[in-house]
Amino acid sequence: MTDIIRDADTTTKDRKRLFIKTYGCQMNVYDLERMRDVLAPLGYEPADEPDGADLVILNTCHIREKAAEKVYSELGRLKPLKEEKASTGKPMTITVAGCVAQAEGAEIQRRAPVVDLVVGPQTYHKLPELIANVHRARGEALDTEFEVEEKFDALAGPERHVEGFTAFVTVQEGCDKFCTFCVVPYTRGAEWSRPVDQIVMEVRALAAKGVREVTLLGQNVNAYHGDAPKSDATGGVWGLGQLVRHLAKIGGIERIRFTTSHPKDMEDDLIQAFADEPKLMPYFHLPVQSGSDKILKSMNRSHTAAEYMESIEKLRAARPDIAISGDMIVGFPGETDADFEATMELVRQVNYASCFSFKYSKRPGTPGAAMFNQIDEGVKSERLARLQALLSEQQVSFNRSMIGKTLPVLFEREGRFEGQLSGRSPYLQAVHCEGPLELIGQIANVEITGASQNALSGRLITKEIAAA
Ligand code: SAH
Ligand code: SF4
Ligand code: F3S
Repeated sequence: MTDIIRDADTTTKDRKRLFIKTYGCQMNVYDLERMRDVLAPLGYEPADEPDGADLVILNTCHIREKAAEKVYSELGRLKPLKEEKASTGKPMTITVAGCVAQAEGAEIQRRAPVVDLVVGPQTYHKLPELIANVHRARGEALDTEFEVEEKFDALAGPERHVEGFTAFVTVQEGCDKFCTFCVVPYTRGAEWSRPVDQIVMEVRALAAKGVREVTLLGQNVNAYHGDAPKSDATGGVWGLGQLVRHLAKIGGIERIRFTTSHPKDMEDDLIQAFADEPKLMPYFHLPVQSGSDKILKSMNRSHTAAEYMESIEKLRAARPDIAISGDMIVGFPGETDADFEATMELVRQVNYASCFSFKYSKRPGTPGAAMFNQIDEGVKSERLARLQALLSEQQVSFNRSMIGKTLPVLFEREGRFEGQLSGRSPYLQAVHCEGPLELIGQIANVEITGASQNALSGRLITKEIAAA
């Protein structure tokens, strides 16, 4: 079998190996797939490891210092691989894409001459041309201008490649919020929403290829305001609630999710959609970052802790079982013990189903980096440990509260053990249970019998497709 494949390989002259390593958020995962799509016609096929690859792309994240530094250590590891490949007479082209590319540009090549090409998130549709330039000149091609509209025109057509039954769909990109700790407004540019018709086209094509669940992506997804579809005679723009209801009508799409939202952009229509659109899953990722109004102000978050709590209460009134998740930063400049206690108190009030938490990391060029009252690393670590202990407790008790309940699970793949399937609950929990392979790609009911911090286990109780 392997030999047959190998023989076939040698007859296809232009076949090239492409290795992409992705860091950071789901927007980068979406972009990774689009890069593969745009390079496939040139003969690039995905490889599992960088050894011997013709093209290596590091799809980078600049959000925290550690994330950015990982890129340079990875480049260090790639250097000998590039040399080894060169010794066989074939070059390896190393490309840095993503948010470090946008933020640092040409600086990357100065620091790591092993890099052949630097390309920012808005120019992936030009990758074939840029790579051709490198091949021609083996020089410093740089393309990091913002042209987000062109990006989607070129990258997100119906020919999109699909794997599995769930898919990300970017509906909004960029951010104008300028939180004082964050690099995103500098790396992803101004906020921009894709037109409804374009998104519908992409989701229809995904449904036709078997996708059952879509997650709508945006750095500020609930600020979505895309051009209304041509079928809407009133024209104007639609918000996220309208978009969700519209996408829910597409045959085959059983579940809709979205991430990430900003507390400032909570519209009643979106909250209402949780009450009346059963395909919208009861899970809301709403980062707050801090429970102290003083720190929220200094972060330029433009809302208070009380306003945040109000949104959570409205969401729970609309959909009582809704799972709330969030992001927290500890040790932002000027954070006192009392400010940190306010964060702990807010966490107790919200009672998160899951929540990411980070130590504040100084990002060059952001206002937070220039603040004089930076917090000691030791203090940050202590606070993070206390916060994470509380958050783990909440996550475990949320998961345990599922025991005895019957949940509709979308099965996505085989589990780790023989005869086991793995899927997701409406609340985004991983669920494992025994069941037949035919259920992969379908929704079926599972009675939950066990729960750990990161997963649920249970017993399949129906083979019919269950309502979400
Ligand atoms: N657009 C989203 C997410 C942005 S980045 C939002 O507005 O919430 C994801 C998370 O990384 C943030 O929510 C924040 O908690 C964290 N983060 C961003 N910049 C950071 C920094 N400089 N230091 C530590 N954490 C940071
Ligand atoms: Fe960053 Fe704030 Fe924009 Fe989120 S809202 S991407 S944290 S600037
Ligand atoms: Fe990172 Fe860029 Fe996403 S900085 S979190 S990859 S938008």
